[in-house]
Amino acid sequence: MNAYNMDELFERAGEAACAAYAPYSKFRVGAALICEDGTVFSGCNVENRSFGLTICAERNAVFQAVARGTRRFAALAISTPDSVEPVGPCGACRQVLSEFMAEDAPVRFGGSGPGRVDTTIGELLPHDSLHDLADSTDH
Ligand code: THU
Repeated sequence: MNAYNMDELFERAGEAACAAYAPYSKFRVGAALICEDGTVFSGCNVENRSFGLTICAERNAVFQAVARGTRRFAALAISTPDSVEPVGPCGACRQVLSEFMAEDAPVRFGGSGPGRVDTTIGELLPHDSLHDLADSTDH
């Protein structure tokens, strides 16, 4: 499928989910982003009693990576161990992920059951005609 080991990346997402702070929803999420050089950044969801302040695992991972100077991600895995079936990223996360990933970048997500969804950023956010508007080398 690609040069990245999506099984391993999914494992890393599962490990990240263990750190989730989700006392309200009881729904832990872990996300793992791999860069072209093999570096992995991961994140978990962090909830708040003011519910709207919750940050999703996927955006947590992206923001941690960008804060460390990385703006390009080759592949993404998402683990939702509290659901049996795979649960895909929310709309807000799809938009943010697409800022830093190519349309053909592979994405895998899955829950505690055996089902896995293998897709791409472009399939998750189709008709994204402004995809290449930013020049991320600038600022
Ligand atoms: N959540 C994520 O972390 N990622 C998503 O893409 C969907 C939702 C989190 C937010 C909240 O903490 C919990 O899952 C239930 O919505």
